[in-house]
Amino acid sequence: MAGAYARLVNSPVGTRLAGQLGLPRPVPLRRYAVGEPLVHGAVLLGGPEPAVLGARVGELLAREGVVVVGEVAEAVGGRVAAVVADLGAVERPGDLDVLRAVVAPALSSLQPSGRVVVLGRSPGQAREVAQAAARRALEGITRSIGKELRSGATANLVLVDDGAEGNLDATVRFLLSGRSAYVDGQVVRVGTGTPVQPDDWTRPLSGKVAVVTGAARGIGAAIARVLARDGATVVCVDLPEAGDSLAGTANVVGGTALQLDVTAADAGRRILDHARRRHGGLDIVVHNAGITRDRLLANLDDSRWRSVLEVNLGSILRMNEVLLGDDGIRDGGHLVLVSSIAGIAGNRGQVNYAASKAGVIGVVDALSVDERLRARGITVNAVAPGFIETEMTAKVPFATREAGRLLNSLNQGGLPVDVAETIAWLSQDANAGVTGNVVRVCGQSLLGA
Ligand SMILES: NC(=O)c1ccc[n+]([C@@H]2O[C@H](COP(=O)([O-])OP(=O)(O)OC[C@H]3O[C@@H](n4cnc5c(N)ncnc54)[C@H](O)[C@@H]3O)[C@@H](O)[C@H]2O)c1
Repeated sequence: MAGAYARLVNSPVGTRLAGQLGLPRPVPLRRYAVGEPLVHGAVLLGGPEPAVLGARVGELLAREGVVVVGEVAEAVGGRVAAVVADLGAVERPGDLDVLRAVVAPALSSLQPSGRVVVLGRSPGQAREVAQAAARRALEGITRSIGKELRSGATANLVLVDDGAEGNLDATVRFLLSGRSAYVDGQVVRVGTGTPVQPDDWTRPLSGKVAVVTGAARGIGAAIARVLARDGATVVCVDLPEAGDSLAGTANVVGGTALQLDVTAADAGRRILDHARRRHGGLDIVVHNAGITRDRLLANLDDSRWRSVLEVNLGSILRMNEVLLGDDGIRDGGHLVLVSSIAGIAGNRGQVNYAASKAGVIGVVDALSVDERLRARGITVNAVAPGFIETEMTAKVPFATREAGRLLNSLNQGGLPVDVAETIAWLSQDANAGVTGNVVRVCGQSLLGA
């Protein structure tokens, strides 16, 4: 959040001025550190009966020793760390009023970096049109709450398929915790699957082998660090010319380095052979390597066009043929692709990049319904980062950069670790019900909202 605007409004004079003018003031976000509790305070849990999803969350909170209250007044100091509203029982739009009744009184009592998590059922499984409308309405409500919250608080919606109630834990834990600091206004769909709860939630990837492409720096290096912190052994992949920094990442995470251009015809095979030979197999693949070669379409030459599509998309399709083959990643594995909000909303001067990142979402759509992968319990999801502070965004012109930082509900850029935490969550076996999701890590950016 180190932008010029943030420095200004957090200076002694700027703070006063921002208050008088009603300007947004970015605040430091609560981010996860090992050993941190899920939340720092009481959680308000409410919703109409039968609150099946809420009951499940109540059990999870009880196991974590979190104080659960039914009203703000019951919480110590009249402050709550989070509000969880179970709207799974809504039948028609008139029932939505309950959400207002549960959430509205709590908003002014929410701690900084507080959480609003709304639980609902999948609109696609509704029995009637009115029920589908009410279920879908939760999306509009939750996204709007996200835009009304201040002080680093976020609001997200979890839609649960029939029979998938038992698969909620990993997602609710993520959304309540500091791991989801920059995930705001998102809808996560939880389906059936066979989640495996870890013995230790501080090391949910224990015993797993992961590969991260583009791991020498930026977001990729952060992904490698977070996956390793969560227990995985990490194969760090990057170009030979990035060899020194790649070795640096691999050393820090106690993993191995593999110098490789992901566009090479044999990239998938080399990754798999390396993971097998050095670590005995492969469970998690994170396709993170990516480039930008920005030009307005009228000036976009053949080389810029082809290189971006090749690195960001073509290579993934080719590597997947090997990595997802029968002798590729192990059953129950996880594939996470890095897209971008440019792939959702489009971006001036980024036709090539947006094409590649939208294509990545197409890959997720197709693979997540692939019967062979589903039968093997392999999940496929994407993250779509917004403005993240890296060397890639440092190259963006000043005005566009400041706008990118500010035009989101948290009024600041995200950090590579925010993307990494989201990927680590999507890589958990406890999350086996979450597949086919594209989770934006963008602080609820107005771009592509
Ligand atoms: N920074 C952002 O705000 C942002 C926003 C949306 C999406 N993303 C995406 O996140 C990913 C990481 O971005 P970043 O900001 O860390 O970028 P970065 O440029 O800092 O790092 C990208 C890494 O990928 C490596 N790489 C590039 N081409 C490669 C190839 N052919 N083979 C192997 N490695 C290769 C680079 O050497 C580099 O280490 C990219 O896919 C990017 O498109 C970033």
